[in-house]
Amino acid sequence: MNDRTLLLAGNWKMNHDHLEAISAVQKLAWALEDAKLDDSHCEVVVVPPFTDIRSVQTLVQGDKLWLKYGAQDVSQHAPGAHTGEIAASFLSRLGCSYVVIGHSERRADNHETNEVVATKIKAALSAELTPILCVGESLEQRQEKSHVEFTLGQMDESLAGFDAADLSGLVIAYEPVWAIGTGETATAADAAEMASAIRVRLGEKYGDALAQTTRILYGGSVKADNVAEIVASADVDGALVGGASLSGPDFAALCKAAVAK
Ligand code: PGA
Repeated sequence: MNDRTLLLAGNWKMNHDHLEAISAVQKLAWALEDAKLDDSHCEVVVVPPFTDIRSVQTLVQGDKLWLKYGAQDVSQHAPGAHTGEIAASFLSRLGCSYVVIGHSERRADNHETNEVVATKIKAALSAELTPILCVGESLEQRQEKSHVEFTLGQMDESLAGFDAADLSGLVIAYEPVWAIGTGETATAADAAEMASAIRVRLGEKYGDALAQTTRILYGGSVKADNVAEIVASADVDGALVGGASLSGPDFAALCKAAVAK
C-alpha cells in the first residue's frame, strides 16, 4: 500500500471534435456517477485535442463535474511568433491540470527528441501544469532485451537539468511502442518490471522522496478487462489509455475496474 492516488488518463489523440467531446464527457460523467468516486479513490482525466479544451472546460466548470482534463502536447516556447504553437500558459488559463509530453506518436511523427521533450517539460512546469512524460521502447529493443536501458535513458535525457524540487508531482507513463493501438498489451509483469526500474532510477537520481511520490502509469492497449491486473502491481499507479477512453461508458467501466482492483 502506498499514498499515491490512482490516475486514469484518457488520451483521445486526434479523435472527437468539440461537439463530440461534450457528448463523450457528459456520458463519462453520467456513467461514473453511481461509482461515487472521489479524490481519495482516483483521478480521472480526459486529454482531448486542443480545439475541444474550451468546450470541456465550460462543461466541467458549469456542471461542477468531478473530472480533470489536460492537453496532448505543449509548445516549448513562451507566447510569441511561433505559428501553430500552443503556449503552456494558455493551457493553464483553460484550467488544464495535465499535459502529455513526449508521446511516442509525437516522437515519431514530429521528430521530438529527448532535448525537445525536456524543454516542453520546463515550459509546462513554469505554467503549473503537471507533465505526463511518456517513455517506452520499440519492439526491436524489447526483442534485443535492451528495453529497460533504453527507456531509462529516454527518461534521464528527458529530465536532464531538473532537480527533485522541479519534478515534484511529475507523472511518468511507460508506454511500450509495440503495445500502443495494436491490441498487444505488455503483461502485468512487463509493466511492473519497468515501473519498478523507473522508480529505482528516480530514487538514485533525485532521492527517495521523489521516487516514492512520483506516479508511474502504464499505457498500451489498456481496456476494462485488463486494467485491474496492470494496476495491481505495487509500482503501477494508473493507466494512460487511448482507444478505450474514446467512449464515455467504456472509459467509465475501465475506471471502475481499476478502482475495484
Ligand atoms: P492505446 O493508446 O490505449 O490505444 O493503445 C495508448 C496511448 O497511446 O497512450
